Amino acid sequence: MSKSPANYRPETRLVHSGTLRSQFGETSEALFLTQGYVYNSAEECEARFKGEDPGFIYSRYSNPTIAMFERRMIELEGAEAARSAATGMAAVTTAILAPLKAGDHVVASRALFGSCLYVVQDLLPRYGIETTLVDGLDLDQWQRALKPNTKTFFLESPTNPTLDVLDIPAIAEIAHKGGARLVVDNVFATPIWQSPLALGADVVVYSATKHIDGQGRCLGGIILSSEAFIAEHIHNFMRQTGPSISPFNAWVLLKGLETLGVRVRAQTDNAARIADALASHPKISRLVFPGRADHPQAALVKKQMRGGSTLVGFEVKGGKAAAFRVLNELKLAKISNNLGDAKSLVTHPATTTHQRLKPEDRAALGISEGFIRFSAGLEHADDLIEDLTAALEKA
Ligand SMILES: Cc1ncc(COP(=O)(O)O)c(C=O)c1O
Repeated sequence: MSKSPANYRPETRLVHSGTLRSQFGETSEALFLTQGYVYNSAEECEARFKGEDPGFIYSRYSNPTIAMFERRMIELEGAEAARSAATGMAAVTTAILAPLKAGDHVVASRALFGSCLYVVQDLLPRYGIETTLVDGLDLDQWQRALKPNTKTFFLESPTNPTLDVLDIPAIAEIAHKGGARLVVDNVFATPIWQSPLALGADVVVYSATKHIDGQGRCLGGIILSSEAFIAEHIHNFMRQTGPSISPFNAWVLLKGLETLGVRVRAQTDNAARIADALASHPKISRLVFPGRADHPQAALVKKQMRGGSTLVGFEVKGGKAAAFRVLNELKLAKISNNLGDAKSLVTHPATTTHQRLKPEDRAALGISEGFIRFSAGLEHADDLIEDLTAALEKA
């Protein structure tokens, strides 16, 4: 496997890392749409199964296109090893569940994407794994939740959808002192703006469905960590249980990485322009954008992130009816529960991604009935601002 020099800058790694050229010398990475591999001899086949020959065995285990995607992500993230998965949720579930057994304990920030919350709150306890949910912004709560059997801390930052920023180095320190590992869902930050492993996390997970594809085509996920964590906990679990990514999806995501930096920067610039244009709008009671000086954790954003976000959150006055009017009036931005796309997407979290929560839990997380999550795309910022301001007139 080719290895790019580690001292190239991220933009260069996004384009070149991990490329495996076939004998035809293709410019663009090849799509190896194959389930299996053939062997020159029974001896070679035996050696491969014994792990003495490094070639491929079966695409549930690995595949050259999938290996290129994983290697590019490894070198971007500064990880030692990675395993990709069919979806972001397959990656999150595997990263949390695979290393645990009945009797273990997990602490997670309450502000999680709905399906992640289901895994932590509903699924793990059914298998005898205890969970405690905390206010992720409150370091004392992380500390107090630690028990002798705590194995994993789990959080996302910035949070979905209220864009709070959690102190990754401080939470990692609490976890490590208590003998636990920290798993970070870095979807909202993207690898462009935040590197959780460098901040002290042990494992980072992505829904590659979001910015990594960024053009609304394929689902995918990836777990990145140390060689030891992937080898000990993830590799065999995924090989035997099979939440593998398809080579086609891995190829789309691999090609998506080439433009990730350019897209995330442009979408973040658009989000910042929108945030500035709407911050003092009379129909808006609250606006959150990591990157603005009025963000509640602005100092932390500066310390642990290299940039803001492609997302803006805002609360319209008038609750659900007003928020729905805004969504329905938007012409350019499309109503969707997705994010990170080249097309601007707008979500009403209280009735979609977070509708499963009890109203009081939603209120505690700041997800009011008037709250809107806006994922800025690659359109011209002025067109997006005009679209939003026209829709807000009707709110
Ligand atoms: C923060 C976060 N984590 C995980 C996921 C799950 O990803 P996927 O839809 O690829 O399974 C999503 C989005 O759906 C998300 O927003």
